[in-house]
Amino acid sequence: MMKALYAMKKGELLEKILEHQVPHLNISVASDKDQFFSMINDVHFGIVVVNCELFADTYPWEWMLPLTKIGNAKVLIIGDSVVYDSVMLDVVMRLAADFSFRYLPAGGSNTETSNLVYEEIMGKSDKLNGRVIEYGKCVTVFSAAPKDGATTIATNLAISAALSSQDMRVALIDLNLKNPEVGHQLDLQVRSDTSLRIRPRLQTNVLHENDLLDSCVAYSRVKGLYIMTGSNRRDTYVDMTPEMVHNLIDLCRRTFDVTVIDAGAYPDNAATIVSVKEADKKLLVTQNQHQSFLHSWGEWFNCSWRQFGLSTESIDLVVNKEDKANNAGKIAKYLEMSRYYSIPLADEQNTSEGKPAYFNPGSAVFKSAIDALVESVTNVGNQGQLPSRNAWWKKLLSI
Ligand SMILES: Nc1ncnc2c1ncn2[C@@H]1O[C@H](COP(=O)(O)OP(=O)(O)OP(=O)(O)O)[C@@H](O)[C@H]1O
Ligand SMILES: [Mg+2]
Repeated sequence: MMKALYAMKKGELLEKILEHQVPHLNISVASDKDQFFSMINDVHFGIVVVNCELFADTYPWEWMLPLTKIGNAKVLIIGDSVVYDSVMLDVVMRLAADFSFRYLPAGGSNTETSNLVYEEIMGKSDKLNGRVIEYGKCVTVFSAAPKDGATTIATNLAISAALSSQDMRVALIDLNLKNPEVGHQLDLQVRSDTSLRIRPRLQTNVLHENDLLDSCVAYSRVKGLYIMTGSNRRDTYVDMTPEMVHNLIDLCRRTFDVTVIDAGAYPDNAATIVSVKEADKKLLVTQNQHQSFLHSWGEWFNCSWRQFGLSTESIDLVVNKEDKANNAGKIAKYLEMSRYYSIPLADEQNTSEGKPAYFNPGSAVFKSAIDALVESVTNVGNQGQLPSRNAWWKKLLSI
C-alpha cells in the first residue's frame, strides 16, 4: 500500500478528491500547516497533494523546500490565487518546475481540480507514456514572400515525417502568428485560444511536456503528428517575446523527436526571427519569380536577416511550384546557398482547401519530392544510397 498525504483544508475540494476511488492508497489528511510539517517529517509518503490555501502566512519556499527532502514522492501543488498574489504564485510555479513537482493551475472548479488530481495520481495525464526524448530536432520553414508556400511545405513535410516512422513523435507548430493557416490547410476544427492560453506559462517557462501535448491536436489521418494551430487573435503576435519563442522551442525539443515550424515570411516579429535562428534546419521557400527570391528575399535579407546574424550558408533553399525549367540550382547559386531542392506544382485541380496535396493521388510527383526533401534534410539524399524511410529521422537526430 502506498502512503499519500493530502494537505488541504476540510471542505468541498477535499471531499471531491476523496470521491475518486484510488486502489492501494493509504490516505492521510493534513488540514493545517502544523500537521503538514509534522507529518512530512515523520512519514514516508509516495504521493503528496498540497493546496497552497494551507499556507496563507508562509512564504512558498518555507513549505516547498521540505517537500524536496521526502525522497521520490510524486508531488502535486494546487495553486490558489486567494492566498498568494500573482508574484508569489509565480514563485510557486517556478519552484515547482525546479523541483519537478506538478503544478495544477489556480482557478479551476472543485470538480475540475479533483479530476486533474485523480488523473495525475493514476498517471493518466502522462501522455508521454514514460518516453523520454533527449533533445529532438527543429526544422523551421519560412518564405521569401507571402504565398510562396511555407505553410504547404511545412504541413506536407510534417505529414511525411510522421508517416515515415511508427514510433516517432512529430510536431507541426504554427508560428506564423500574423497569418496562421496550418489549421485551415488541414481543416482542423479547434478552439482558437489554445495557443494563447499557454503564453503566460511560456513566459515564466513553467510549461510541462504534458501541457504542450494537451495544447496540440492530433491529426486523425496521421498517427504521431501533433499540431499546434495559431490563434485568431492575430493582433497579439507582439505579445510573443523572444524568450517565449525560445522556451517553446526548447520544450518542443524535449517533447517531440522532430518539430516542424511554419514561421511565415517577414522577419518583423519574434516568432519568425527566433524560430528561424534556433532551428537545426532552416528551409527558405521561394518561387521561381523575381518578386520572391530576388526582391522580397533580397531586401528583407539585407535590411533585417543579415543584421540578426543569419548567414546564407546556414539556409537550405526550397524552390516551390516549379513547373517548367528547373532553376533551383541557378537561384541557389545567385543567393549563395549551397543546398537546394525543388518542389513541383501539385495537381491544383484536384487539391481542395483543407486537404493536403500529399494525399492527393494526382500529386504523386509532389509527394515524392516532399518525401525526398524529408530525407535530404538529413544530408544523405544525394550520396547514392538512400536511407530507408524509417532511418532518415535517426540521421536528422544526429545532426
Ligand atoms: N507546390 C504547390 N503546388 C500547388 N499549390 C501550391 C503549392 N505550394 C503552395 N500552393 C498553394 O499556394 C497557395 C499559397 O501557399 P501557402 O499558403 O502554403 O503559402 P504561404 O507562404 O504559407 O502563405 P502566407 O504568406 O500567407 O503564409 C495556397 O493556395 C497553396 O495551396
Ligand atoms: Mg502560410
